[in-house]
Amino acid sequence: MIGESGAMTNIPVRHLGEIPVSAVGFGAMVLSPGMYGDIDDDRALAALRHAIDHGATLIDTSDGYGADGHNERLIGRAIRGRRDELTIATKFGFRVPEGAAAHTFPVGFAFGELAVNAEPRYVRGYAEQSLRNLGTDVIDLYYPHFPDPEVPIEETAGAVGELVADGLVRYLGLSNVTAEQLRRAHAAHPVQVVQAEWSMWRPIDAELIAAARELGVGVVAWSPLGAGFLTGTVDRVGADDFRANLPRFDAANLAANNDSYAALQGIATELGISRSQLALAWLLHQDPHVVPIPGSRTPAHIEDNLFAANIGLHADTLRRIEQVLDGAEAVGATLLES
Ligand SMILES: NC(=O)c1ccc[n+]([C@@H]2O[C@H](COP(=O)([O-])OP(=O)(O)OC[C@H]3O[C@@H](n4cnc5c(N)ncnc54)[C@H](OP(=O)(O)O)[C@@H]3O)[C@@H](O)[C@H]2O)c1
Repeated sequence: MIGESGAMTNIPVRHLGEIPVSAVGFGAMVLSPGMYGDIDDDRALAALRHAIDHGATLIDTSDGYGADGHNERLIGRAIRGRRDELTIATKFGFRVPEGAAAHTFPVGFAFGELAVNAEPRYVRGYAEQSLRNLGTDVIDLYYPHFPDPEVPIEETAGAVGELVADGLVRYLGLSNVTAEQLRRAHAAHPVQVVQAEWSMWRPIDAELIAAARELGVGVVAWSPLGAGFLTGTVDRVGADDFRANLPRFDAANLAANNDSYAALQGIATELGISRSQLALAWLLHQDPHVVPIPGSRTPAHIEDNLFAANIGLHADTLRRIEQVLDGAEAVGATLLES
């Protein structure tokens, strides 16, 4: 298959519940200023279009990425004229409306907590704003970004179910949930996808993946490159980079972590692939219904990542990788550990 730019787009398809998507998607968070340092819209749009031209059909965003829906608005600009080729996934709950309560919960960031509001009465308003930002009339996959600690998840799921009934949303996804929350929400409205942090240095919760498999729910792996760490190219992060708030990227921890995982480079080199491709191919071999959504602003990296969907790893290679991962210990809390 040839994309608009003439680029090859022969990426295998995977199913997330009922939703067919490219086996490697694209995580757009990296494209808004304030995440991985500064970035302008021209570079961001070029990256997004490059990902789409090269076959990424799952585009992941959130109303919380960038200021005032910036990330969703970028996607709205990039998808004009090609909306139907794509599965647009967005999330809600971070933009707590004026006058609404901010429900806080602890996280592993240096600043300690995040705030959401996923009360059913606000969910339609969130979706209508995201639809305006995205310039589309339907959201393919809609997630509460985090479970609201003060709202039973089945109530939030039910509110998304009403949007599905009204045609504003196609499918419900859940992000950062436990197995128990998945089961409860699924009973209120069918869930197609759970999104969880999952990578070589962050195992997925065993009960969550077991529940997803049992219920036929797909898994989207966020930060599949360990927020860049697993590419083997990060030895410092700038003060304007959100990773400066992540304990795993603290200078001393980062140096120790780079040492711990260094043996992965030897395996990648032997196979003639990049460390990023090794990390993504490894994830794709963990489950037939996992889809990683790496983020990148760099066209060559985007192609590198998408090509990982076509890399097969031999059982012996997978065993060698497991040996490295079993012997490595990541120092410092990750995003959602408190
Ligand atoms: N649900 C949630 O709570 C949640 C939380 C976090 C993230 N997410 C989602 O997951 C997506 C991905 O996560 P992420 O952006 O945090 O982390 P990631 O995809 O694990 O890593 C992104 C970083 O890796 C670098 N990179 C990517 N490909 C590379 C390659 N081939 N070679 C070298 N460097 C490479 C990027 O730099 P370059 O730009 O230079 O390539 C960027 O700094 C986000 O966009 C978002 O959609 C969801």
